[in-house]
Amino acid sequence: MGKVYEATVTAPVNIAVIKYWGKRDSALILPTNSSLSVTLSQDHLSTRTTIRASPDFTIDRLWLNGVEEDINASKRLVNSITTARKLREALEEKQKQDGIPAESVVPLSQWKIHVCSENNFPTAAGLASSASGYAALVSALGTLYELPQTTSELSRVARVGSGSACRSMFGGFVAWQAGIADDGHDSLAVQVADRQHWPELQALILVASDKKKAVSSTAGMQTTVETSSLFAERVRTVVPQRMEAMKEAIAKRDFETFAEITMRDSNQFHAVCLDTYPPISYMNDTSRAVAGLVHAFNSARGRTAAAYTYDAGPNAVIYALKSDMRDLVELFTYCFPREDSILPDAFYPDPFSIFDSPEQ
Ligand code: ADP
Ligand code: DP6
Ligand code: CO
Repeated sequence: MGKVYEATVTAPVNIAVIKYWGKRDSALILPTNSSLSVTLSQDHLSTRTTIRASPDFTIDRLWLNGVEEDINASKRLVNSITTARKLREALEEKQKQDGIPAESVVPLSQWKIHVCSENNFPTAAGLASSASGYAALVSALGTLYELPQTTSELSRVARVGSGSACRSMFGGFVAWQAGIADDGHDSLAVQVADRQHWPELQALILVASDKKKAVSSTAGMQTTVETSSLFAERVRTVVPQRMEAMKEAIAKRDFETFAEITMRDSNQFHAVCLDTYPPISYMNDTSRAVAGLVHAFNSARGRTAAAYTYDAGPNAVIYALKSDMRDLVELFTYCFPREDSILPDAFYPDPFSIFDSPEQ
């Protein structure tokens, strides 16, 4: 057995408060609109990925949650791995040009890899597994290959795996700038504020179903772009204005504005799904009951004290300030006693940490 190089990383999920839904280029995963999300603590939901590279490996292989997947059957896996390899190849070239003896430049770009990835939460159930999954894959490749690119630059590589993954490359509050270029070089994630900026903000995840969704995000958004007339209006007028208002609310730590925009954007995203033909319904009766309860809670408090948001699935993410969260947890546990709930009790200052262990 020859040399084996190895890297292990974990990556967090992110939950959008301004939703990405729609592609202008499906191959490069370029979105029709910018989006903005909050990265959750890795203590509760995360992907852990280990990658090994060796001159002895004959093919690239990947195991997801213990089951081997065919890498070549997934254009997204091939695209993200190939893009990272090209960056490594450029680095090896540079090392040689810089006078490092050729025999000291490790030709990792030429070696096949074995990837082992585990999600510690339901996969493909609307809890952003594609986001943490591809962010972990690309971070692990970045670590293994010792890539010099910035996190925003690497977010472009995560983006070609799954759009939402580019935002999981950062902790805190993250925008994915749609960009305008056809080659996608300006379609990347930037951090709007780090986690310490707003430590009182917390997220509660209510799992209404951990089943795999009937319509994947990729397929759903493609049908929406092709058939919904409401969607065009959302992209043209609503989202650009909400992006600005949301950034301002975050900068000012204005929870009421943050919460109202979050709920309105989730509602519009699901309205656009219903306007798709044939219609797509990701929310179920439990999701709708949770939304109703949040509005009732807000009325009782006389202020917008909590916000719900739903991705492409029935599971709710509730945002609230720490001072209101205990009451909300009690309320949800009382009203939905049989629901399985996961409570991230706090965000951490560094929600995205890398455990780097390349071995020779
Ligand atoms: P979700 O709401 O969970 O993001 P999607 O439909 O967007 O659901 O994506 C689910 C798909 O993402 C999975 O079927 C799988 O192809 C991919 N995926 C999920 N987790 C990982 C992972 N850890 N590594 C690689 N790909 C993953
Ligand atoms: C509703 O990133 O999963 O969660 O780019 O096709 O992989 P692909 O889709 P994905 O879509 C996420 C949609 C969403 C909203 C969001 O995360 O912004
Ligand atoms: Co996804």
